[in-house]
Amino acid sequence: MRKTSIITLAAIGVVTISSCFRDPKKPGLEYMPDMAHSVAVETYDESKNPDIYADKKSALTPIKGTIPFAQGALFGATRHSAYMPYHHPFSPEGEEAAKKDVNPLERTPENIAEGKRLFEIYCAPCHGTEGKADGPVTGANNRAFPMSAAFSYFTDANLAFTEGQMFYTTQYGRNMMGSYASQLNPEERWKVIMYIKGMQEKYVAEQKKSATTEKETPKDKK
Ligand code: HEC
Repeated sequence: MRKTSIITLAAIGVVTISSCFRDPKKPGLEYMPDMAHSVAVETYDESKNPDIYADKKSALTPIKGTIPFAQGALFGATRHSAYMPYHHPFSPEGEEAAKKDVNPLERTPENIAEGKRLFEIYCAPCHGTEGKADGPVTGANNRAFPMSAAFSYFTDANLAFTEGQMFYTTQYGRNMMGSYASQLNPEERWKVIMYIKGMQEKYVAEQKKSATTEKETPKDKK
């Protein structure tokens, strides 16, 4: 009995002492090592696969066309592109180039309906639900907010706005109107613009119709 305890104590002693001298850089006995060592490359670790990463860099540069979360430009010519990149600068040349941009979305009833919904939330307070520049903000406090009535969508100048130019307007704002780049993403803005263009086209068609009926009326009377 005594002998066994001496041996046991000696064994424990040996184990204890030997564990003190272990190389701290080596893991020693590992139970289920796959659990401890991830196969995935650790952040900033040297890559172990020279076939893919010849320079051993595991933190790769983003692929071309990657959209940065923020381009760091909150001011100056590229202001507001901190949300989503926009290829036209804030300048007369930029606006001129933007005129040629076409709406990338298809004119579907769903897109138009969503455009209407967003328009009524974000734009109608000033532009009015019918785009006649008679929203509650425009008329508030006896028109204290210095906005001219000229921003009705149906003036000749504004009917000539292309969808690309409207997008430019929502990107950078225009005089008293601020940018909507942070409130609406590009897709949402194209939907809103689709809805506005639709309103304008309807207006133009109605104008034409009433113009022809006016001309035809005297003839019909004969
Ligand atoms: C705070 C009021 C306000 C809001 C909200 C607003 N706008 Fe405007 N918007 C204006 C004013 C004022 C102008 C006229 C700017 C100028 O030319 O001096 C304008 C001009 C425009 C123009 C240029 C053509 C025109 O009619 O003069 C477009 C296009 C336009 N806005 C689209 C939008 C869209 C789309 C939204 C919603 C995402 C929106 N606006 C929200 C005030 C507003």
